[in-house]
Amino acid sequence: MEKLIIQGGTCLQGEIPASGSKNAALPILAATLLCEGPTTITNLPHLQDVITSIELLGALGVEVGEHQQHRIEVDAGRLDSLTAPYDLVRKMRASILVLGPMLSRWGEANVSFPGGCAIGSRPVDLHLQGLEAMGATIVIEDGYIRATRSGRLIGCGIRMSTVSVGATENLMMAAALAEGTTVLENAAREPEILDLANCLNAWGARVTGAGTQTIAIEGVASMAGGDYRVMPDRIEIGTYLAAAAATRGRVRVTGAAPSALEAVLAKLRETGARIDTGDGWVELDMRGCRPRAVSLTTAPYPAFPTDMQAQLTAVNAIAEGIGIVTETVFENRLMQVQELRRMGADISIDGNTARVKGVVRLQGAQVMASDLRASASLVIAGMAAEGETCVDEIYHIDRGYERLEEKLHHLGAKIKRISV
Ligand code: UD1
Repeated sequence: MEKLIIQGGTCLQGEIPASGSKNAALPILAATLLCEGPTTITNLPHLQDVITSIELLGALGVEVGEHQQHRIEVDAGRLDSLTAPYDLVRKMRASILVLGPMLSRWGEANVSFPGGCAIGSRPVDLHLQGLEAMGATIVIEDGYIRATRSGRLIGCGIRMSTVSVGATENLMMAAALAEGTTVLENAAREPEILDLANCLNAWGARVTGAGTQTIAIEGVASMAGGDYRVMPDRIEIGTYLAAAAATRGRVRVTGAAPSALEAVLAKLRETGARIDTGDGWVELDMRGCRPRAVSLTTAPYPAFPTDMQAQLTAVNAIAEGIGIVTETVFENRLMQVQELRRMGADISIDGNTARVKGVVRLQGAQVMASDLRASASLVIAGMAAEGETCVDEIYHIDRGYERLEEKLHHLGAKIKRISV
């Protein structure tokens, strides 16, 4: 088992590059299943979730080259299996993203039913309802979602009752090879949706309206494949900027797309930070000052992202004043709070709202990561705290942060990984 040991009290300073986006890379890897010819994906981050996706493609019989230098070649010309097994889906819920493309291209898909996870029950009803509306037959048996179709899926109008990133992606991919046009209403507008649409179009699909609430997908008979470069990871970038704010530092992230980060940058500005952006970079400068606490409510894009909530809660924990943090996307996503309290944070919870009264000093402690973004918040708190923090269960962090210690070292943090 590995742990991170952090000596707190350093002010982060310097420049680091952004990695490719995890949440864009996962659906793009699933989209390779739609293509008859080879695909090449670049700016693909080296992360555990990407490794799991590659293993999943391998388990289906897809030819997958080496993942080297952030690049991979994938050829889904033929498949050996139409089953996404329990062992891989259990590791990563986003494995459900192979359902739409596999069904649409190959006529059948069996995907282990994703269970609950630390941050809530996370149902997949919208994915299944949308596929059924396109003519799929879906049964749940032996813990598997078994989806079949006779003939091609049929394009139709689908209005989703909740804004779901995953359902929007799955249905966009399924519709890419359907007969006729599919119109998704109340679609998610996250930048990763736009990235997937750009990728699908580069590989031969016809998708318009991505980035708005209404996405139209005109089905094509086949997709050839081609090259695609994954967008920068806006959540990773936001995490490093939040770390700079918490440690009163100055950090520039290059290879960034600041326009995808507006809600986060607005909140970081409210903490008193100076934010500068340029072509492909963003910089936060706290000018040595203690941040001011900020209140925020998470909601689908373009509002404040749930994936940055835990990190801003950590900033609030050592800020001046009181910040009210309300989580509306997932029902159980304030798990970092009890660990932050172990470091001396003054946080009370009422339902899905945390009232964070900033303290002057956090104290290093032994804490446990419960999910990916909660882990990031504990690392931020550890760097801002006095003394030593030991973060346990860090496999969560490896799912979504590429070369975390190396990047933080580069910014002056005292952080090391130990195996016990
Ligand atoms: C994706 C992101 C995750 C982010 C989340 C919200 C990936 C790999 N993961 O997760 O990092 O936190 O978006 O921005 O991109 N829901 C339903 N029925 C469904 C599907 C979802 O009720 O069929 C609900 C969920 O329980 C949740 C809300 O919709 O309350 C949003 O979930 P969704 O956008 O689907 O999240 P994911 O795609 O799983």
